[in-house]
Amino acid sequence: RNQIFKLSTGSKAFDKLLDGGIESMAITEVFGESGSGKTQLSHTLCVTAQMPGPNGYIGGKVIFIDTEHTFRTDRLRSIAYRFNLDENTVLENILCARAYTSEHQEAGVFKLLIVDSIIAHFRVDYYGRKEMAHRQHRLGQLMACLQKISEEYNIAIFITNQITSNLNNLEQGDPQQPVGGNILAHASTTRISLRKVLNGKRIAKVYDSPNLAANEVEFTVTSGGIDD
Ligand code: GTP
Ligand code: MG
Repeated sequence: RNQIFKLSTGSKAFDKLLDGGIESMAITEVFGESGSGKTQLSHTLCVTAQMPGPNGYIGGKVIFIDTEHTFRTDRLRSIAYRFNLDENTVLENILCARAYTSEHQEAGVFKLLIVDSIIAHFRVDYYGRKEMAHRQHRLGQLMACLQKISEEYNIAIFITNQITSNLNNLEQGDPQQPVGGNILAHASTTRISLRKVLNGKRIAKVYDSPNLAANEVEFTVTSGGIDD
């Protein structure tokens, strides 16, 4: 129960970039432009978290906190199909936070908690410079809570984040800046940026990590989820 495990992204290259995958007892953040694959990666992880993996990992259940109403059971079915899993069983093992029941409270069975996205409500609820300090304080409390959960229950936390639409960054040749400021930067263990390139390909790049090199790899989004 206390051994750290890693969850596959669905892409061998992406997993290699992450030295195996999304790690438990840590918070992994992805950010990137709309359509870059954040939600598709979230859905793929919902399925791969249920499959046995290296070092005796037996698979487990998933909590999906859907703040942008992008949770899609039909996508999960097609990803489950790709991995030869029973589609209904896969769906039963995912708790979408809008449908929480007492059955779901058993500790120890959950392996992955997804928040897609961490920032959407905060950006709407706290608007403008004056409210920024308050927003950051609340965001900090939430992240501390997630960190505690990840360590206490040995689960992987996966959050998605948005990017600034600051044209100054574009001019500096770096259009992909995560929002959430220092609070998110410090709270996330590993930060990954996603972006779209030509031919429907996408690039995942390690943006900040205590142990991973700042490399990048190409991956694709398919009907079966994230792939090479
Ligand atoms: P925002 O939430 O808008 O910021 O974007 P996101 O990063 O969450 O994007 P998302 O993961 O929703 O990616 C959507 C893109 O994935 C679509 O534009 C398609 O290019 C691709 N996609 C989604 N489903 C499929 C599928 O079944 N097959 C293929 N080939 N591509 C898909
Ligand atoms: Mg999304």
